[in-house]
Order: sequence, then C-alpha cells, then structure tokens
Amino acid sequence: PIDEKVKELLSKMTLEEKIGQMTQITITALEEKGNPGVLDKNKLKEAIQKYKIGSILNVPNPGAPTTQRWNEILNEILEQTNQTSNKIPIIYGIDAIHGANYTAGSTLFPQQIGMAATWDTELVEECTAISAYETRASSIPWVFSPDLDLPRNPNWSRFWESFGEDTYLSSQMGVAMVKGFQGDNVGNNDRVAACIKHFIGYGSTTTGKDRTPSIIPERILRQYDLPIYKKSIEAGAKSIMISSGEINGVPVHASKKLITDVLKKELGFTGIVVTDWQDIIYLHTRHKVAATMREAVKKSVLAGIDMSMVPDNYTFYEELLALVKDGEVPMSRIDDAVSRILKVKFELDLFITPVTDPKKYPDFASESSAELAYKAASESITLLKNENSILPISKNKKILVTGATANSMKYLNGGWSYTWQGENSDKYAQEKFTILEAFQNKIGKQNVSFAEGVSIEKEIDIEKAVKLASTVDYIILCLGEHNYTETPGDINELKITAPQVKLAKALSKVNKPVILILNEGRPRLINDFEKDMHAVLQSYLPGNEGARAIVDVVYGDVNPSGKLPYNYPRFSNSLQKYNRKYTESLGDSEQNDDAEYQKSYNPQYEFGFGLSYTAFEYKNLSINKEKISKSDELVISVDVKNVGDLKGKEVVQLYITDVYASITPEVKSLKRFTKIELSPGETKTVKFTITKDDLGFVNEDNNWVVEEGDFEIMINNFKKKFAFE
Ligand code: IFM
Repeated sequence: PIDEKVKELLSKMTLEEKIGQMTQITITALEEKGNPGVLDKNKLKEAIQKYKIGSILNVPNPGAPTTQRWNEILNEILEQTNQTSNKIPIIYGIDAIHGANYTAGSTLFPQQIGMAATWDTELVEECTAISAYETRASSIPWVFSPDLDLPRNPNWSRFWESFGEDTYLSSQMGVAMVKGFQGDNVGNNDRVAACIKHFIGYGSTTTGKDRTPSIIPERILRQYDLPIYKKSIEAGAKSIMISSGEINGVPVHASKKLITDVLKKELGFTGIVVTDWQDIIYLHTRHKVAATMREAVKKSVLAGIDMSMVPDNYTFYEELLALVKDGEVPMSRIDDAVSRILKVKFELDLFITPVTDPKKYPDFASESSAELAYKAASESITLLKNENSILPISKNKKILVTGATANSMKYLNGGWSYTWQGENSDKYAQEKFTILEAFQNKIGKQNVSFAEGVSIEKEIDIEKAVKLASTVDYIILCLGEHNYTETPGDINELKITAPQVKLAKALSKVNKPVILILNEGRPRLINDFEKDMHAVLQSYLPGNEGARAIVDVVYGDVNPSGKLPYNYPRFSNSLQKYNRKYTESLGDSEQNDDAEYQKSYNPQYEFGFGLSYTAFEYKNLSINKEKISKSDELVISVDVKNVGDLKGKEVVQLYITDVYASITPEVKSLKRFTKIELSPGETKTVKFTITKDDLGFVNEDNNWVVEEGDFEIMINNFKKKFAFE
C-alpha cells in the first residue's frame, strides 16, 4: 500500500510543498557564518519551513562528524520538518562510496576500482552491506553510489570510482553493490537507498578531462553503457544521478530522450532521478543551452529530472513555482517527480524512523568490519610482475621503503575520504597504518630503512634513498598519485610524474631487487622503467586496511588473487581496451600478418591479468553441444587444477568471440567469471551456462540482434567453436 500512502499524501500537499520536495540543498549552506559544522537555526528554518525542501546532502565543515554528531544534525533538521503541516521527513544523501567515508572512525574499504579487481561479487556485496550499516548508524539513509560509469579514457579523473573498462564486469559489480546497500528491504534500519550514477556516458569524455564533451554514437551507448544501468535497475536501485556531461552536443540534464524516453519509459525506472551538483544552473552558465535560469529549469524538469541538487540557493524552487503557475510545466510532471521521492521516503521507513540512534549500532567500525576491509584489499591487490619469483620475500631481510606514497594514509584512501578531496586521511585514520608503518610492524623498525625520495611533484632526497638502498636486501618502491576527486584530478600527462620516474631509475641502478608498489586510481604509465622493476604490485586505492594487505602479499601471508579490471597501457597513444577490434593496430596492414597485428596491440598488462604465487592448469574445456538455437543453453565446462605448492584463488574468465558479424566483431568479450580457491593438487570443475542473449550486439539500426553463424568460447588459452542457428 505504499502507492496508496503516496497518493494520499500527495493529495494533501500544496504546490509549494511539492516543489520543495524536489529541492535538495547542501548542509554547508545551512552552517553559521564563521562557525564550521554548527547549523544556523534561521537558515534551517528558512530552508525547511519556508521552502519546504525535501532533501539535504553533503558533509558539514570541517568534515567527518561522529555518528553521535550526525544524529544531532539530523535531529535538528527533524525538529524543523515536524513544524511543517505534513511533517514530511527530509531524505539526507551522502557520497558514501567506499564505506561511511564521511563519518569519523568508519570502516573504509578499497575504492570501487579495487573492488572490481577482486572479481568477487559476494565479497563486494558483503562489504557494501557494512557501508550501509555504518551509513545508517550515521542517520543517513541515502548514498550516491555505486558509480556505473564506463571509462573510455584512462586519463579520466574519476576512473577509480568506476569498476573499470568492461560492461559485464561493471554490471555484475553494480548489482552486487545495489544489493549490498539495499538488501531485501531497504526499510530495515541497516540498509540505505542506492543511487546509481552518472546516467549516462559520463566516463567517455574525449580528452579524459572531467565534464568535458563526449561523442558517443547511440549504438555504442546502447551496447556498452546502457546494459550496466539496466542490470542495476532490475536489481531495484532506488535512485539515479544524471551525468554532468554532454553527449553529441546535448547536456544529459536537458535530454528528454535519455531521461524520459530511455530511462523512465524504456528501462521502466520508477525511482528518483536526481541531478548532479548545480547541473541545472550549468545548463545556463556553462553548457549555454538555456538563455535564462527559467529556461534551464524548464528544460531539465521537462526532460524528466525529479530532484535538483541545487545546492545553495532557491532559484530552482522560485523558477519552477513560476513555471507551473504560468502553465509551462504541467502539474502531472510535478506529481510524477514528487510521487517518486515520497515513495522512496516511505520505502526507507523515514516517516517512522527519520533519525537513528547510534547506540543501536554496536558493530559500527567493529574489528570484524576492519578484517573484511583487509580481506577486500588483499583480494584486490594484483601482482603484475614477479621476475624469477622474487616475491614473496623472507621476513629476515633488510628493506628500504621509499617513494611518494610510502608514508601517508591519503594515498591509500584517495578522494571521498573524510572530505571531498581526501586530504585528511592522516588526521582521521591515525590508528591505521601507512605502508611504511605496516612494514615496520611486520619485521621490526630496525630492519626497515626509510627515505621518501620524492613527493608526487618534487624531488626530496633521492640521493639518501640511493645510499640507503645499497645497505639493504630489497627496495620497496611506493609510487602513485595524489589524492583527488573529480575535476581537481584532471591531468595533462598519463605518465607517472617525472620525479617518481627519476627515483625509480636511480634505484634501479643500485643493483638490488626493486619491488614496485603502485597506489593509483588510474593506470599511470610506467613503461620508462618497468623493465628494471623485479616485481610490480598494483594496490589501487586499497583503503584504511590496505597497507597491511600489501605487506602480507609481499611476505606471502596472502597469496595474491586480484586481476586487472582494465588494460594497463604502455604508451600514451595506445589506449586500446581489451575488447578491441581486429583493426586496432599501430602497424601497416599491408605489411603486417596476424602476429604483427597482435604485437601492435601492446598493453603493459592486459585486462583480466594478475599473477599468483601458485600455478593453475586448465584442462578439458568442453561444451555440451556444437550448435545452439534461440531456446537452448550452452553449458561450458573446464577443469582447473592448482599445480603449485600453495593454496590460491583463481578467477576463471570466459570470453566469447563472434567470428564474423555485420558489425565488426570484438577480438573477445567477457561473458562470465567466477573466483575459486584451490589447495595444492586440487582440481575443480567450473561450469558456465550461456544463452543466445550473451551472443548479441547492437546493430546499425540500434537494435539488439543475435546473428547466426560461428562463435568461439575462450577460457584461459583454450578455445572451442560452436554455432548459433
Ligand atoms: O555524488 C556526487 C557526484 O558524483 C559528483 N558531484 C557531486 C555529487 C554529490 O556530492
């Protein structure tokens, strides 16, 4: 009967109240001037009693309140909503994207790109359920996560917020996070409403710079981007955020075709459609498709926006009110928007429990949650190179720890950690360990030398690092990126920064084994010195427990099992994705035979790649039939054996190739995966089932089709052909 409740409440609401519900403002606009973190009663009263706003977002200054403080903030807001005629609770939204990352003391998990590298959807769901619990413990019922963007250019500053470059992997991970946030009943007070974002094409800017234009043919959008959203919508995602970008000259916030026709009608999305930050204003001021604010509001509301992230003034409210009164925006559109918002508020049980009591969340930041974050980090770390099996190393050796990212929590957590840019991780995560500290904890301070060598941007003491290097057995070189979020993370050069390259080159001349640990949100090019590194570990942005996990991988207490969720490029003009076309060659087609074509496809490390300390052997790839029709299932089976000496986990990946097709086929495309654990000598048989739906693509007329003909299954290096008739 939630629909009934919505109808009844709607019938009692004034136009002003309805438009208020569609308005979301930032908490920082409600703070006392000069008094960060303290709410100004008058501003709060104005927002809620005068404008009747429906939603608030963001973290107050200076960042990261405790659960108790969040409870007080939400209670202060509630006091005001209780003064309004219909007492409609606000819905508070937050960017809890890798834990309740805006609450002091919360559990911080690896960022999304690391979660994708685990290739373990159950683990991701489990971690996300903890994020939901800790966010609700902070009285916040709505998170702006997961990020379903498909980055097409690894320069993109939000690359790490995504699940990497593949549609299927991103779809599976997105569903896992939606389920983890929402559970079976989002009204339970340990769950939150998810907000999938940023619909659509946001990760595809041509330059890789954030919020710059994208050119995406509809065929491509439908084949690669839309299915990710479709899966999460089918999983019940309660809300969606619109992309700040433009596609083919049309800002998505102004696109009726994308928001109403595709999202609401074609995909049947019934949840809340919220804008991104000030994006209606930007239709006027940046995109310049609306000559006035009034026109901008009209365009976006008619396009299908339900809630405007304003976020610090009431222009949207005033303009929309006038537009409805003047008959330029129909009441039916307003009722549709408000019904969606109220429905989610009822579903979240906000009318009964608008604020939670932190005392009822005894497991907030529990040890077991920290262990889960450690497990996720351990499973994400990806061993990219291990020359002569140099790793794992033994604990009785002396090491030098050096490099820009060696001794700060901010490089482990990245952005959206305590504050927007994540600069304060050291302050808020004092009891957690940096990489240097984790090594010291493991083998004793006396065995660990340290010289920073360089910061991300500057040389500091390269000579000292080189000197110390000659006194130890191994060099642990920690390189990577600044903490950043959104546009401040834009770069002009994908190569890892020059001072870091200089340090790597200097150390490689010392004649001691160098173990490179990467802390980065996107693949910064390392080709200049990679050949001189004896081992390379990608740790992504592994979160508060990341350093422990890195160290345990280095010493073999954890056997690495992460796999790259993207192609790691070798050169800046060689950014092909793994599911490339046959013609993506740097060579001259007249002179190159097939082998040469393959050679000129040259990622540093390929999507799906990651080494283990044990070895796996694949055998007996078989299929249950050689031809399938529309109604058939194809069952694929393969035996995987651990032929090494250690227990280990393997990600079994199934790719399909359409041998000939009317649209140039991809060389291969991921269709299934599973992560299994095997003891030494153990064999497991893995079975996958696929149907015709896994064989389709979007044709020239923008329709999904499956064409008859031959296909090839690929698992590991084994292939099998079958036909679809
Ligand atoms: O959720 C975010 C979005 O990803 C980027 N702009 C601001 C929003 C709210 O903080």
